[in-house]
Amino acid sequence: MCGIVGYIGSREATPVLLDGLKRLEYRGYDSAGIATVSDGINIIKAVGRIAALEKKLLDNSLFGTVGIAHTRWATHGEPSEVNAHPHTDSEGNIAIAHNGIIENYRSLKQLLQKEGHTFRSATDTEVIAHLIERYYEGRDFEIAVQKALAQLEGTYGLVAICTKEPKKLVVARNGSPIVIGVAQGEFFVASDAAALLPYTRNVVYLEDGEMAVVTKDGYRTMTLDNKDVKKEVEKITWDLEMIEKGGFPHFMLKEIYEQPQSIRNLLGGKIKKNETDVRMRCLQNGFPEHVSRIDAIKILACGTSWHAGLVGAFLMEKLLKVPVTCEQASEFRYRQPVMVPNSLAVSVSQSGETADTKGAAQLAKKLGAYSMGIVNVVGSTIARMVDGGVYLHAGPEIGVASTKAFSSQVVAFSLLNLGLSHFMDQRQPLADGTKRIPDKDALKIVHELLSLPEKIERVLQTVYHKDTGDGIVQQIAREYKNTNNFLYLGRGYNYPIALEGALKLKEISYIHAEGYSAAEMKHGPIALIDRNMPVVIIAPHDSEEPESYKKIASNAEEVRARGGRIIAVVNEGDDEISKMAEWVIEVPNTLAHLVPVLATVPLQLLAYEIAVLRGHDPDKPRNLAKSVTVE
Ligand code: AGP
Repeated sequence: MCGIVGYIGSREATPVLLDGLKRLEYRGYDSAGIATVSDGINIIKAVGRIAALEKKLLDNSLFGTVGIAHTRWATHGEPSEVNAHPHTDSEGNIAIAHNGIIENYRSLKQLLQKEGHTFRSATDTEVIAHLIERYYEGRDFEIAVQKALAQLEGTYGLVAICTKEPKKLVVARNGSPIVIGVAQGEFFVASDAAALLPYTRNVVYLEDGEMAVVTKDGYRTMTLDNKDVKKEVEKITWDLEMIEKGGFPHFMLKEIYEQPQSIRNLLGGKIKKNETDVRMRCLQNGFPEHVSRIDAIKILACGTSWHAGLVGAFLMEKLLKVPVTCEQASEFRYRQPVMVPNSLAVSVSQSGETADTKGAAQLAKKLGAYSMGIVNVVGSTIARMVDGGVYLHAGPEIGVASTKAFSSQVVAFSLLNLGLSHFMDQRQPLADGTKRIPDKDALKIVHELLSLPEKIERVLQTVYHKDTGDGIVQQIAREYKNTNNFLYLGRGYNYPIALEGALKLKEISYIHAEGYSAAEMKHGPIALIDRNMPVVIIAPHDSEEPESYKKIASNAEEVRARGGRIIAVVNEGDDEISKMAEWVIEVPNTLAHLVPVLATVPLQLLAYEIAVLRGHDPDKPRNLAKSVTVE
């Protein structure tokens, strides 16, 4: 999620562009750049926050009344000046700022390199600038842009300028927002309206598959195949804060609702319907020769990332048929751990800066493990220290309570599991020669991963009603907002979800909550049960382990027999545990190891709603930091 700004009019563009970037900084802030057209294209870029770019501009003025600017949240290519946008073509006649992910950029880059194009950056975006150059014939810049966009697979919101046609901006949208600001004798372009507020509230929103040519006298909107499209000018009624939160009252709620898209971003290009392959660079390039086999896996993480790691450990041990443990990084690094030969260490961290996870990752490497990372922040310390890994592409997670990163981490484990099974089948085949994951099961996993985003959307629509406030989660929140204790129970893949649901509630509502293995209740904690103890039981049917549902049904019976008030998270159509519960939250069916993604969404919303009802700011809970960079 990056910030894009464009300006064309009579003012000097640079101050307008800089001001716009500052208003979009929440969208991404690891590097930034500005390009103006005045006797050629002039570009200034800087690593770090917008202030670094502003400082640089003091010594390097950029002139011109047409320009584009970008503040980056890195997806491909670490945060650096060379990877910062805007990017240009070989000759420096075309500049582009882009928000989104181009899935086929590698094959396009190879094609362009064969044709003599030289690339400076490691980004996917630079490919677009060279593609436009490939099609540009000295006129009709927008036609060259259309031809280039027709080659792309993936998402983009972009703005482009050209030295040979200096009095126009060309913008296009497919999957990432682009809005045009309309004023008298000047026009603005941005990835969201926050950048436009000081200048105009009259806007035109492009839809996917649309583009526009903008001059200082007006604009033309059309489809990507050059057919005119009539667009209405709309009025922005939101204030800046509401725009930054996408109209949500808090970043946390916005990020809960972003989960379908963040998972689509992660899946993008890695798996395809009816194929069992997983295209993950960390696996496709293969492991180095010294990693001939994997005989054990250690997952290292903290907090919510540790919960995602527990799901990953359950899954990988079951399917890869090697010992897998998920360790709290802080414990692992100080207990003299033993790593058996041919171990793989997977460090999981949204921020990529958690001190304990960093320390554990370093120790695992020192003990001889091949190290991988599952990280959200591109170019973060953990991402740079591991030997390989997968980025979540979930965009900035502003809320201190981790939500969209968690669901993407679970999905990343499912992808990694699939990819590793192919690697291990080749390098260390099973004695009976069978595949660790038979093709039919792998196809089922791919199918369920691809259908996960819309299943999350279904959960969001059914359990939480933003406008009326009468969703089941909101009703439960109103009933229990003054409770002093909560218990969350789960088994198998849903034991980590019990832990995660409890952590969410604790960290933003300040109610004491415990996550427990449902089976463990009998060994003491069941003494806690009475009518004052709401008990959340995550109890989906598990088609792979039908027995586990029966077991958790008897756990639910034990709770009810002692007066416990049950809030059950079950599959749609459940007819047993739901009868024992006072409140029933239904989630769609899916594979057992993906249920945690669906079951966690209502628990995130429950914690959020209770925190708000108790008058707390869920984005900034007391005593907490977004990234625990100290021990
Ligand atoms: C989760 O809601 C918390 N904010 C916290 O437990 C967090 O998951 C933990 O500090 C790990 O952070 P990381 O994923 O950035 O390493």
